[in-house]
Amino acid sequence: YNPELIRNISIIAHIDHGKTTLVDRILEMTHSVEERKMKEQFMDSMELERERGITIKSKPVKIYYDSDDGNTYEINIIDTPGHVDFTYEVSRSLAACEGAVLLVDASQGVEAQTVTNTYLALENDLEIIGVINKIDLPNSNPEETILEINDLVGIDTDDISKLSAKTGEGVHDLLEKIVRTVPSPVSKGSSDDKLKALIFDAEYDKYKGVIIYTRIFSGSIKKGDTIKLMAKDTSYEVSEVGIFHPELQETEDLTAGEVGYIIAGIKDIEEANVGDTITLQSNPTDKRLPGYKESKPMVYAGLYPGVPKYYEELRKALEKLKLNDAALTFTAEHSPAMGFGFRCGFLGLLHMDIVRERLQREFEIAVILTAPSVVYKTKLKSGEMLEVTNPSEFPSNDSIDEIYEPYAKLDIITPPDYMGNLMNLSQVEKRGEFKSVSNAGKDRVVLHFEIPIADLIFDYFDKMKAISRGYASMDYEYIDYRKSNLEKITILVNKETVDALSFIEHESKAYETSRKIVDKLSDLIPKHQFEIPIQAYSHGKIIARSTIKALRKDVLAKCYGGDITRKMKLLNKQKEGKKKMREIGSVSIPQDAFLAILKIN
Ligand code: GTP
Repeated sequence: YNPELIRNISIIAHIDHGKTTLVDRILEMTHSVEERKMKEQFMDSMELERERGITIKSKPVKIYYDSDDGNTYEINIIDTPGHVDFTYEVSRSLAACEGAVLLVDASQGVEAQTVTNTYLALENDLEIIGVINKIDLPNSNPEETILEINDLVGIDTDDISKLSAKTGEGVHDLLEKIVRTVPSPVSKGSSDDKLKALIFDAEYDKYKGVIIYTRIFSGSIKKGDTIKLMAKDTSYEVSEVGIFHPELQETEDLTAGEVGYIIAGIKDIEEANVGDTITLQSNPTDKRLPGYKESKPMVYAGLYPGVPKYYEELRKALEKLKLNDAALTFTAEHSPAMGFGFRCGFLGLLHMDIVRERLQREFEIAVILTAPSVVYKTKLKSGEMLEVTNPSEFPSNDSIDEIYEPYAKLDIITPPDYMGNLMNLSQVEKRGEFKSVSNAGKDRVVLHFEIPIADLIFDYFDKMKAISRGYASMDYEYIDYRKSNLEKITILVNKETVDALSFIEHESKAYETSRKIVDKLSDLIPKHQFEIPIQAYSHGKIIARSTIKALRKDVLAKCYGGDITRKMKLLNKQKEGKKKMREIGSVSIPQDAFLAILKIN
């Protein structure tokens, strides 16, 4: 063991720019995985990840590299999730490294996410190596991409190397550059010999319990030690430590500079908080590693089984998902419209999507997800502060003094042609405020906005992609809570309030959105024997109204079936759910109507 010969690095890349392929090539060139296993890409193992081309969980790998200088280096490659919802996890993974490879697809150019992650790396004082990938592609444009990298993150054009992760060209040079320019962990070590280790990720294993992914900054750890997790001051006895080579491989100990795993009989993944510091019970450090943050859901939505009898199944499935996903939160809730279900908290929209998809795929549970909501902070006239995650629980407008909503900094990278459309989307359609614009290379501009997160979470991403023909990319980051003129709009069906249909909207758009919603509802609710008024109500008055005419005797109600796309079992469950009508007063409302808001915004 010689810490001078260790290199801890991370690869920063936008989705599909070739990170997985590069790691596979490195594993192959250093004979770290048997041929047989190379058939499948090694890094992305979850089925969903593969299909959606996104990395959800980071898995480190350790390789041994025989360098041209005659030394054998131990290189730990720490994979980072590539999406904005997981920014905090990315920052903690980067904190475990001394260097980062910034990998950019030469046929795509720099994307917003790449820039954000590079800034995170700079904040963590990492040595950054700029690399252009896919130079084997005929339509690649390495020179322009190099200029973009130079403009956006300031790396010298001469220092940016080119490679093809697919053919392997340039990969040897990259490895040489890593061992030459990335500092050894000795640079970050302290003179202190007390154990200080960073938790940068954790996973749950059925047999072993929680497996902590860690980077040791000082001291050492071995089997039998009693460790202390500093955030919550809990203690555990270590039953195994080891490295990722790339599968778990037990070792005698882990010492300063090393990356590895710890198993210590931890049952609940919430106990192993990403960003927390581990020390020894017997000889504890008193200084935690910097940067610890408790992860907090940004987006909430109701999750319902559609059919009451699947409630238990849904609960069990959520509990299973939660084993491996500390960021997911859920509490039971009951809504008069949807029945029994759960209020779930997510890190962001992608996280929400992943949970929904996994419930369908891995557990075959069809779920109904209500419109997502941010967390509003309200100051009541009584002086009390209240956090609201569910619009139907929003206090009435007359009892509220002030409302605050979360804002994000939004960066968009786009070819200049689409700038006008994007300005329009962000400022007119959404409530964003334009801040500045800058150039990146000759074909790209970077737009900066500040925008309410509520406006981002509906369909911003899809609209941005549509109006830029897929060329624009975005990234956002929470900044703060701001006072806002929001109001609660209540929907009345046949003069009765339907709580589950209430929503929060900005004053300036209250009328327009209400209009759309009452119209949509009158399409979705079937005719009855009597006329049904649908009204939107706010600040003591009706602001929009539409009417469902009474049923004429000769009209037969029609039932439409959906497309048959999913597995039969799932389909049947969904069908049962669709048929279900909720009786509100004397009116039957189909479940679809409760999701109307999702479709409007
Ligand atoms: P994530 O799933 O977000 O981690 O994507 P990724 O960055 O790991 O991308 P991945 O390695 O899955 O590569 C995306 C696509 O680009 C795949 O179809 C690869 O075969 C292809 N690809 C990667 N590197 C190269 C390269 O150097 N040349 C060519 N022609 N194709 C490449």
